[in-house]
Amino acid sequence: MNIYYEQTDSTNRIARELALAGRPAGTVVQAGRQSAGRGQYGRTFDSPVGGLYFSLLLHPDLPLERLSLITLAAGLSCRDVLHQCFNLDPLIKWPNDIYLGDKKIAGILCEQVPMNHLHGSLPVVVIGIGLNVNSQLVDFPVEIQPIVTTLREHLHAEVDISALLAQLVATIIKNVDLLGTDPQSMLGQWQQWDYLLSRAVVHTAGTVSRSGIGLGVTPQGQYRVLDDQGREHDIIGGQLRPLT
Ligand code: BTN
Repeated sequence: MNIYYEQTDSTNRIARELALAGRPAGTVVQAGRQSAGRGQYGRTFDSPVGGLYFSLLLHPDLPLERLSLITLAAGLSCRDVLHQCFNLDPLIKWPNDIYLGDKKIAGILCEQVPMNHLHGSLPVVVIGIGLNVNSQLVDFPVEIQPIVTTLREHLHAEVDISALLAQLVATIIKNVDLLGTDPQSMLGQWQQWDYLLSRAVVHTAGTVSRSGIGLGVTPQGQYRVLDDQGREHDIIGGQLRPLT
């Protein structure tokens, strides 16, 4: 079932409430714009008119240790759809930002909904995606205009947002299913589009920062960094970004 709001605060918030109210897997909440879109690290996600903002509710039949791979599967899905539909070649910045060149075109926020086993034993997950589609740079706050891009900017044309949503939802479901049968195949595909691979990176966790070189994603979905002293670190959380 698809639910559409011309404007709301956050589709992830609504999808989470619907999950708690027992709505089934496959429910999609979409908004034309968001006033308080949620981003990673507790940030706000700018969501002007013209973007695709949606949250997909899933009950993935996966062992607990594979749940963290869902965010990577969602990023791969965005990458695949942008390539298949528009012949673009975006890269994925671990864990789940989509970049065209050096500018961000999409962000992903996956959240697990604690259900107290009311709905059986399957986990409940909300996959939230914000993709800059028909918006223009002037629609974003001045300070982020230099670091974002939109499909319209690349294609010089408007895109059918509904068709794009349908394609994305189908591809996410396919890639999350793949996590159940062959997670290494999903990770193998992800590795081909790694924005940070072999680049100088900085990892920040709290007040501690460490620089190094990106070595790629591990079989568990963490990100491996070779630090300046030659030691390898597998990163789970915090923020990882290119040095330049
Ligand atoms: C990020 O880049 O930090 C993640 C952004 C995720 C934004 C999407 S837009 C649809 C969904 N609803 C939200 O409130 N957040 C996600």
